[in-house]
Amino acid sequence: MLFDPKMRALAHATVDALFDHVENVAGRRVVDWQTSDDLRAKVRIDDRGGAEAMALIRLLMENAIQLHHPAYMGHQVCPPFPSAVIGDLVISTLNQSTAVFEMSPIGTVIEQEVVRWLADRVGYPSTSLGTAVSGGSAANLTALLAARARWMEKRESGVGGRESEQNPPSPTPDSRPPTPARATILCSADAHYSIARAASIMGIASDDVIKIPTDAEHRIDVRALETALRDGGEVMAIVATSGSTATGAFDDLRTIAALRDKYDTWLHVDAAHGASVVLSDRLRPLVDGLDLADSLAWDPHKMLWMSLSLGVILVREERWLRRAFEADAPYLFNAERAGDNIGEMTIQCSKRNDAVKLWLTLQTSGTRPFVEAMEHVTDMARYLYEQVTASDDFEAMHVPSFNIFCFRHRSDDETNAAMREKLIRSGQAWITSTVLKGQRVLRVTMINPRTERGDVDRMMAALRRSS
Ligand SMILES: Cc1ncc(COP(=O)(O)O)c(C=O)c1O
Repeated sequence: MLFDPKMRALAHATVDALFDHVENVAGRRVVDWQTSDDLRAKVRIDDRGGAEAMALIRLLMENAIQLHHPAYMGHQVCPPFPSAVIGDLVISTLNQSTAVFEMSPIGTVIEQEVVRWLADRVGYPSTSLGTAVSGGSAANLTALLAARARWMEKRESGVGGRESEQNPPSPTPDSRPPTPARATILCSADAHYSIARAASIMGIASDDVIKIPTDAEHRIDVRALETALRDGGEVMAIVATSGSTATGAFDDLRTIAALRDKYDTWLHVDAAHGASVVLSDRLRPLVDGLDLADSLAWDPHKMLWMSLSLGVILVREERWLRRAFEADAPYLFNAERAGDNIGEMTIQCSKRNDAVKLWLTLQTSGTRPFVEAMEHVTDMARYLYEQVTASDDFEAMHVPSFNIFCFRHRSDDETNAAMREKLIRSGQAWITSTVLKGQRVLRVTMINPRTERGDVDRMMAALRRSS
């Protein structure tokens, strides 16, 4: 298997086929619904080889869910920008592993540049640090590991409180750790499931992940949060959300940061979906106070239209991130380059150089495509909200602040579930569904910059036909 003329021709043909596919995607169905058995029959492996590569690539293109289709309004997985896709080809070809500086000097520096650029956009200080990770779930786990590093140090030596971070006293060698305590995590009832999963990976009991109810706007109820802080034992971290999965709600970060200060704990913001709004003057107020977080998750593979995967974890005080991952691996991490070994701050060892995609996009196109796309999809969510509120047969569950919106047919749960199922099987549009405060609702994520008002109208017409 070589990079020979035959493979070059296949690569060119693949690029042409993919560009044609995206260009003409609106003429197809969003998905040709098939059972897993139907699909398995099409892809069964024949390890004698001999299949025609372009036929296989076409099979994949034709049977995929068409995220580039303007009627795709589903989950938070984007139709990626072409620069990201081109970046992917470069990343895969060069295959730089960015855990260890000497294995990827330029890749490491690009990741550091991208992370610094993102940290600057948030308004984080120069003491902050982060890494690219596989996505929001990995970022949330990483953040909670950093929170635990601080929590453990605080318990063991009394060091780590906010004042002592400025002037850390020298640890007393003979001080004994206090009796083990149960670390609790406070998060919104609407927090992404990866928070509870991260806690369980860390050995934190599910009872110790305390779900705080949300208010009428699906934001964490700050009064209930304060009660839990007062009564909740040893709170290792508060987890707030900027852009919740269900409704795209943005928690009140300034108030929550003040509570974090009052109760001397850690504030992690799961801004996997919402952090990107910092780039838009219009949308930025949604994340007012994000710079006050001790850590935050930001997924460029969501609202910066990067292909899967590119998530980022940022930690305000770099030492907690480093402390969380201290490892003894002299075969990899040479002390003289410790500062540059990204692998010393992450779970991964083989580490894809995904930051290149964002670097390439920023260098060539600047921030305008992100801002335009974000503002456009926000407008589309708002347009749908207006259509729903003006109708007799549907009701809005909330006012969308960004690009996620939940609504409901004025009937029962079964009808709503059945409508969504019928709609996506028809291939005319793709939306999702969730349960919100006990009710089955329809949910859209406007995430395709090609979605226009006419597509929203057609989706609603198709939905009505599915009732
Ligand atoms: C708020 C939030 N956090 C975290 C995640 C998980 O991100 P990932 O799928 O990149 O692991 C999601 C995914 O939808 C999310 O909406």
